[in-house]
Amino acid sequence: MADAVSFSRHGELALAVIEHPPVNALAHAVRVGLMAALDEFERDPGLHALVVRGAGRNFSAGADVREFGRPFARPELNEVIERTERMHKPVLAALHGNALGGGLELALACHWRVALPDARLGLPEVKLGIIPGGGGTQRLPRLIGARAALRMIGEARDVTGEEAAGLGLIDACVHGELTAAALDFARRALKERRPLRRTGALSPPAAEPGVFDELARTLAQRQRGFKAPLEAVKAVRLAYEVPFSEGLRRELELCMALLNGAESRAQRHAFAAEREIAHVPGLPAGTPAGEIRAVAIVGTGVMGRGIASCFANSGIPVQLLGRNAAAHAAARAAIQKSYAGAIARGTLTEAQAAQRLALIREAAAIEELGDADLIVEAIAEEPQAKAELFGALGHIAKTGTILASNTSFLDLNALAAASGRPAEVAGLHFFNPAPAMRLIEIAHTAHTAPAVSATLLALARRLGKTAVLVGAIEGLVANRMLARRSREALFLLEEGALPEQVDRVLTDFGFPLGPFAVQDLGGLDVVLATRRARVQQLSTRERAADLLEQLVALGRLGQKSGAGWYRYDGERRAHGDALVAELIARHAHGRGIQRRAIADEEILERCLYAMINEGARLIGAGIVPRAHEIDVIWLAGFGFPAYRGGPMYYADRLGLDVLAGRLRHYATTVGPEYFSPAPLIEELAQAGRGFYG
Ligand code: COA
Repeated sequence: MADAVSFSRHGELALAVIEHPPVNALAHAVRVGLMAALDEFERDPGLHALVVRGAGRNFSAGADVREFGRPFARPELNEVIERTERMHKPVLAALHGNALGGGLELALACHWRVALPDARLGLPEVKLGIIPGGGGTQRLPRLIGARAALRMIGEARDVTGEEAAGLGLIDACVHGELTAAALDFARRALKERRPLRRTGALSPPAAEPGVFDELARTLAQRQRGFKAPLEAVKAVRLAYEVPFSEGLRRELELCMALLNGAESRAQRHAFAAEREIAHVPGLPAGTPAGEIRAVAIVGTGVMGRGIASCFANSGIPVQLLGRNAAAHAAARAAIQKSYAGAIARGTLTEAQAAQRLALIREAAAIEELGDADLIVEAIAEEPQAKAELFGALGHIAKTGTILASNTSFLDLNALAAASGRPAEVAGLHFFNPAPAMRLIEIAHTAHTAPAVSATLLALARRLGKTAVLVGAIEGLVANRMLARRSREALFLLEEGALPEQVDRVLTDFGFPLGPFAVQDLGGLDVVLATRRARVQQLSTRERAADLLEQLVALGRLGQKSGAGWYRYDGERRAHGDALVAELIARHAHGRGIQRRAIADEEILERCLYAMINEGARLIGAGIVPRAHEIDVIWLAGFGFPAYRGGPMYYADRLGLDVLAGRLRHYATTVGPEYFSPAPLIEELAQAGRGFYG
């Protein structure tokens, strides 16, 4: 018997344990092991039931994604699953941790299922751009009905063991030690002559009329641009329309067509890149990560409060230091208000909110922060004030405290020098709103100790965030690339486009919002403050493109004032505004720019290629080690459509020679200072390679 599955006898029961770290993915060795376990069980007349469970923290994370894209070695997963269901003696799946994808599909083919209450059961294949291909779309609706099945399959929502019991997905929720509980359940079931139930032989509960069309509409809206959720609706519908065996066959066809398509390749790249960035080149594996038990935050503005909530939400005590009592009161009120919103939405209980609030304490003076393991600076973007603060923190903080700045535009090296302890200084850049945004940039200078970076990476994981380690540079990576896109968007307005055209092109591409809608959401006064803080970095043309200043001078601050780049109605719906169109036309005239009709293609190319070019420069300069970091930043931070894989992956699909050609073209039409191809792009294009090889 293969090592990936162990087999043991417990009286009349057999136990097969999947032992394939880290997550018991159903790799070839596991499939061979499961088949061998079924053989052994079948052969021995003294064995009356087989319990299957996973070793370690999970039942199984499903098919081994590393095997995708090449022919599967036999036995294929479907052979294992179907043989399991056909067995003449009962097989019981005992679930804990994650039972996902093919892991859950295997369980669905077992005759009985039990789970610990906090197990997570799910079919998240749509996140990889595919649908379940091991019978999940045919068996799950037979157990829990079309609507509940499509919630799990089409939206990739998992359920707990407890919820699964309520839905009828499992036979029972069990408690205590899983093996003992599962063996117990099997013994009792045999004694009670519980029937061996094959899921595939059940008829699905009647579907509500119109449910499939309704769910297809909802999924098309909620997951705009993604193919797999709609294919999932088609597949689940088959469970109602064709015999089981045909349903299985057609499900697999749909799954394979998606698996070989561009969207799924891109989504699988996104999944792999997110995991790859946890292994940071240049940060030796095993660099010790310190523990952060208590945090202090200086600054009670929107960012300071948001960051405080992030820590409190993860059970980490936070001290908050603002300018005065009024600032403290305002911060506490704002945090309370956001928790009240979560309670009203049903995502937080009163008790949880009270617990979190109790973790946040106001400090009266900087000296009180001395015991924190981490101090995060989140004050206004004023270089002098920040340098003074870092000087003071260098004095009061205990040895080993990490001093972090939330800034992305100011010089981290200067703050590190001001602190007098540069090895302990790093950037910890949250995005607004901090509790909701998944991305964190962790920035290191040449002096930051590797253990400091490792500690912050581990901390970010504890906060449930996706963290990317980057070098300290103006704007870091995310905002620096974003600034290039914003610049082009602004130039395009001067040259003839309108905000609604630019935004439409980018939302058609797959971004949830266009650049102007995003600015209106964040507040034009806030965007303007950032623009002013980095005015030294702007070119003459960018400085003269002062449309933002003009809008703010008119009191148009974005959504919050009812108007910005757009005009907003009572329901916060955006409408193009003739006043803005006029303002842009007048501005262009004043600057002597001849406006023209601009093709959508030019808008897309300039907005995307400007940022990809900057990304290539950052890789070339060693600010980020690889393209992976950049793709993850855009996927996790700015809603880059996952089915396009991230900007650098997208560039590879386009071909870097094509990209270089278009950059050269725009270098002549817009200006070489904006579009000269990054040396790395030229180099890779000449070698016929891409960012990913
Ligand atoms: N196949 C192969 N490897 C997998 C895997 C899978 N289905 N799921 C996870 N892994 C690997 C990861 O790549 C990572 O490897 P690494 O350490 O070499 O980078 C390791 O397992 C741990 O995964 P990670 O995501 O970092 O751990 P986690 O504890 O945060 O999350 C899961 C665990 C199972 C929830 C998460 O990995 C997941 O969602 N996996 C995908 C599940 C899925 O989509 N299954 C359907 C496949 S069709």
